[in-house]
Amino acid sequence: MKKYNNAEFNIHHVGKQVELYGWVARKRNLGGLIFIDLRDRSGIIQLVVRPDEKDYELASSLKSESVISIEGEIVERESKNLKLPTGEIEVIVSDLKLINMANDLPFEITDHTTALEDTRLKYRYLDLRRDELKEKMITRSKITMAVRNFLTKEGFLEIETPILCKSTPEGARDYLVPSRVNKGNFYALPQSPQLFKQLLMIGGMEKYFQIAKCFRDEDLRADRQPEFTQIDLEMSFVDSHDVMDVTERLIAQVFEEVKNRKISLPLPKMKYDDAIRDYGSDQPDLRFEMKIQDITDIFQNTTFSVFQKVLAEKGIINCLVLKNKANLYSRKEIDKLTDFVKTYQASGLAWLKYQDNDFSGSIRKVVTEEELKKLKEQLNIEENDIIFIIADRYMITKTSLGSLRVKLGHELGFIDKDDYQLLWITDFPSFEYSELEGRYVACHHPFTAPNDEDIDKLLTDPGSCYSKAYDIVINGYEAGGGSIRIHQKETQAKMFQALGFTEEEAKEKFGFFLEAFEYGTPPHGGLALGLDRLTMLLTQTENIRDVIAFPKTASASDLMSECPNRVDEKQLQELALKIVK
Ligand code: AMO
Repeated sequence: MKKYNNAEFNIHHVGKQVELYGWVARKRNLGGLIFIDLRDRSGIIQLVVRPDEKDYELASSLKSESVISIEGEIVERESKNLKLPTGEIEVIVSDLKLINMANDLPFEITDHTTALEDTRLKYRYLDLRRDELKEKMITRSKITMAVRNFLTKEGFLEIETPILCKSTPEGARDYLVPSRVNKGNFYALPQSPQLFKQLLMIGGMEKYFQIAKCFRDEDLRADRQPEFTQIDLEMSFVDSHDVMDVTERLIAQVFEEVKNRKISLPLPKMKYDDAIRDYGSDQPDLRFEMKIQDITDIFQNTTFSVFQKVLAEKGIINCLVLKNKANLYSRKEIDKLTDFVKTYQASGLAWLKYQDNDFSGSIRKVVTEEELKKLKEQLNIEENDIIFIIADRYMITKTSLGSLRVKLGHELGFIDKDDYQLLWITDFPSFEYSELEGRYVACHHPFTAPNDEDIDKLLTDPGSCYSKAYDIVINGYEAGGGSIRIHQKETQAKMFQALGFTEEEAKEKFGFFLEAFEYGTPPHGGLALGLDRLTMLLTQTENIRDVIAFPKTASASDLMSECPNRVDEKQLQELALKIVK
């Protein structure tokens, strides 16, 4: 076995004989001496092959990324490179062996690569050799180790749950696996271990966790993969406070071990309704302020027909104020922002600039002096401020301004990249109304407990019921979410009824699960953190593929192994499947 790691050597090892293994990261011929940067996972060490050395010819012929082994002596370097941990030394090679010569590479293995992501994904094993990706893999491994250590110390058991299972209720499309033995029947890959972990609580395990693979066939985004990993946990005899307490101590421990960073606890909490009101999102990025402001009242007597129409339909008028930035926004720039908010269904973006003690802007002519005065006072408008206004239905107004807020925050450099702002979002609505289905659907899943005071309203006023669900948000990302579960039959029955399931339908979908509840169910609750998202945050990348060794593209394929792919006719026959074109 390889005995040494390259990066463990320094000036104190001068004179030592070593046997090293690794990849040829770089080779140069300087005045007859061949210098090789030998790379292994730990880092780089410089080798020197002299012209009189028996393996000089071999050294000259080495191609980048070939695998070699050498024997030699560590000496002090003449010209030192203090940026490298091994930069004060080099190894004079006395024996060189070529283990495997590499072909010409499809792209250069350097940190600031310009290679296309598709090429890097096709040759992912080469991409993983780059420091940048390697460091992310190391961080990911450190996170899982910290999680395992912490939760084990807290009394959790690590238990695996099935991958071939019945569909789970997380709301995305399932990945299905046909059964050969039971033709015409399918397994679903778990969207999460939700039902199993609750069954583990009924099974008396009390505290469970798992680094769990989850599969969801949904539209992909920069922070989503079809196959991703959760740090999944569940606890018995707890309330939301207990689950949130363990989770935030776990996260603080991870930050401390992996980032050497103290997170002050307890984390702040914000109710869902307040998050939407002030930030237009249930994942508010608190690294900068710039809240959404409500100016509906100012326009109660407006003569502007667009505002009048919105108010008549019980809509709202809200705005963002950008302090001292009006000069940065030409009409062309504002047009771009208008197109942006339209992608969030807003019908338009009005604006007012305050420059040279006067207002100008898209709605200047339709706003009265009185309204301008009130705007100036209420919003504390000063020279060179610009106001972006949206008037629309409540959620459209909030979410489009919320997205604009984040976009402007990034573009204008309001965000300190080294800052971490963590918080809990609590008191989610139990239901949201689905226009598509014409009924209320569960905001989390149908097993999420409603707040005690709302149980009686489940059937009479579902729209105003709130649940014992909580999400943990870090820098504008939903890093995790969970809830206290319903553990009483009557409440569960009410919940199904509120969701429009008949008793038979509920039985058909969740029968085995509901039956388990008949045999002594402890009160329980839990949560799942997205391991990939947590790693993204801790490694400061916005691309989820960077933190997964073998990720999928936006069209859910693996460019390296070329999957998904067609299968043999024979395999299809065994499964009694036919491809319909
Ligand atoms: P939820 O669906 O909120 O909850 O998922 C928990 C966390 O998993 C991460 N996540 C994802 N990460 C990458 N790609 C995806 N496609 C993806 N989808 C979700 C997010 C999210 O916060 N069973 C419940 C948890 C519970 O109630 O205990 C669940 O799965 O970080």
